[in-house]
Amino acid sequence: MNILVTGGAGFIGSHTVVELIAAGYSPVIVDDLSNSSPSVLKGLKNILGTDVPFYQEDCNDYVKMTEVVQKHNIQGIIHFAAFKAVGESVSEPLKYYRNNIGSLLNILNVMRANNVRNLVFSSSCTVYGQADVIPVTESTPKKKAESPYGNTKAIAEDILEDSVKAGLDFGIISLRYFNPVGAHPSAEIGELPIGVPNNLIPYVTQTAAGIREKLTVFGSDYDTPDGSNVRDFIHVVDLAKAHVSALNLLQEHTSEPYYNVFNIGTGRGNSVLEIIDTFERVNNLKLNYEIGPRRPGDVIKIYGNVEKAATEMNWRAEKTLEESMEDAWRWQKKISNL
Ligand code: NAD
Ligand code: WQD
Repeated sequence: MNILVTGGAGFIGSHTVVELIAAGYSPVIVDDLSNSSPSVLKGLKNILGTDVPFYQEDCNDYVKMTEVVQKHNIQGIIHFAAFKAVGESVSEPLKYYRNNIGSLLNILNVMRANNVRNLVFSSSCTVYGQADVIPVTESTPKKKAESPYGNTKAIAEDILEDSVKAGLDFGIISLRYFNPVGAHPSAEIGELPIGVPNNLIPYVTQTAAGIREKLTVFGSDYDTPDGSNVRDFIHVVDLAKAHVSALNLLQEHTSEPYYNVFNIGTGRGNSVLEIIDTFERVNNLKLNYEIGPRRPGDVIKIYGNVEKAATEMNWRAEKTLEESMEDAWRWQKKISNL
């Protein structure tokens, strides 16, 4: 079955391409490389031993997307393509609404016109904000988004649910990712942040590699066991496999319009200080870090209840935090030539 992977040269998309092929699907990548590099395609070839069809196109382009869908007889789409920098979305909201919402609407229109039924959408635990009860389940109420980026995910979920409610002939699954970390164990693909990383793990690995002088822990006086924030850090390979499970599930629901949403995390919460400790321990190194002030807008504590994905999609994260930290560091060493 041929699957269009928008944003397939990105962090999560590239790992998903590998797992799709392992599961017998045939991925086709569309990525405009606005936040990724052509070197990812080389990494994919080194893992897979073959080229994956790739189109450097903007998935807001109806004509180009239609061409790719028709040429490859696409039967399902995984829509990763989006901008994801939370801070930038606050200063440039229209850029985020246009790309994240515009591209989704375009994809849905292309799907309708070409009888493509199946869609897996990249949503985020950001839709929960700071939930009152942890771990969050899929029925935990969504909170008003803290940023335009977060709002694009909440709006996108509503668009998808409304489309299915209206009886449009779609099978759609939204996956609410928690915090993806790690890299492919081969170190052929991984996270490639442009400029100064916003996210914790690339900042940790770049500090260990000497690219950044010091990691700042954003607050250690929160109401958590060690005072630092708590997150659900999921290995990107486990996350990638969830997309295969979602596509498989969609094929069991072809008789009527179908929409569902799943938490995709480990079900465990780990603190920022635990991350530093684990990174140092498994990689046998010392990280230069200091405790700094809180980062405005940070959620204090979140992790997911992932039983719905286990029961209905037969998916569960398998890798440990230790593996995530080893793989993240192996990847950083490779790209830094250490
Ligand atoms: P990423 O930036 O590495 O990958 C996104 C890819 O989409 C990039 O390669 C970029 O070049 C491409 N892209 C962006 N706009 C495009 C467009 N209009 N046309 C074609 N290509 C386009 O990000 P990622 O971490 O792999 O995230 C993938 C998806 O998962 C995004 O939708 C993101 O919002 C979501 N998500 C990410 C996280 C996270 O922490 N990484 C957490 C939750 C949800
Ligand atoms: C994790 C923890 C920081 C950097 C963001 C998005 C969210 C989702 C995932 C897409 C926090 C702390 C970080 C640093 C630190 N993305 N930290 N020093 O905040 O969970 O969420 O990515 O949907 O929408 O907001 O991830 O990696 O930025 O931070 O102490 O230099 O690490 O305070 O507690 P976060 P993160």
